[in-house]
Amino acid sequence: MKMGDLKMDLVVRETLFNHVRSWMLDAGALIKDSIDDPLTISTKSNVNDLVTEVDQNVEKFFAKKIKEHYKDHLLLSEEGFGDNLKDTKGTVWIIDPIDGTMNFINQKRNFAISIGIYHEGIGEIGFVYDVMANNLYSAMRDGGAFKNDQRLPLLNQNIALEESIICLNHYWLCENRLIDEKVMQSLVKDVRGTRTYGSAALEFAHVAEGIIEAYLTMRLEPWDIAAGRIIVTEVGGKVTNINGEEVGMLERSSIITGNPNVHKKIVSEYLKNIKK
Ligand code: IPD
Ligand code: CA
Ligand code: CA
Repeated sequence: MKMGDLKMDLVVRETLFNHVRSWMLDAGALIKDSIDDPLTISTKSNVNDLVTEVDQNVEKFFAKKIKEHYKDHLLLSEEGFGDNLKDTKGTVWIIDPIDGTMNFINQKRNFAISIGIYHEGIGEIGFVYDVMANNLYSAMRDGGAFKNDQRLPLLNQNIALEESIICLNHYWLCENRLIDEKVMQSLVKDVRGTRTYGSAALEFAHVAEGIIEAYLTMRLEPWDIAAGRIIVTEVGGKVTNINGEEVGMLERSSIITGNPNVHKKIVSEYLKNIKK
């Protein structure tokens, strides 16, 4: 196979982008219409790992659209309506129907629909839709990133760690089995401020928008990463695991994404010796 064969045809990609965009908005409208309805909530791996009928319905909505319009495409998704993927071949939709389910349940805001589309393992299209704020972040490989219709500028290369706001889950500041919480505590002391939004997809989008300088977490699934990675990359941001290595499309992984300077500094000066 020649290199050119790996890339998605640009006309095909544009049509696909427009379809996804319009289905994203339709799915968002369905969520908004029922936002005050009582929820059916179930737990998964633990009491705080939640899923609602809305998560499942949004995923089913996209699974049906893919089957109807893109029979040869595959779906990798969180709630079990997707395909069993063995490799990165073909065109794969990676969907988190609601990223930030806890926020969805407790706050009825601060959650997103996240869709990344990969072709032969290459990220081609990314969408993160902050439904209640009505902000749609999108990107196509080599086509730049957008918030609604506004192109996002390239990230500021000159920002220092001391001027940065970083996102992390406070869990990693407490004693835990995986990483040295003292290193995390020293990082938190060195930055200007910290935030936790509770939706990985939105945290990626906020990095791309340049309103936070980095987002750092120890365990994400492919559907948490897929769309955000494409959007951040388009504004010159970095996405790696905590060792500074690339993360595969199908991998569960630690993640640090951010402004290139800040990403480099956090990886080389803090995360290097963080594993217990
Ligand atoms: C979760 C959110 C959360 C992150 C978790 C994810 P979900 O996704 O992105 O911010 O810390 O690791 O699992 O379960 O709400 O789709
Ligand atoms: Ca998620
Ligand atoms: Ca989810």
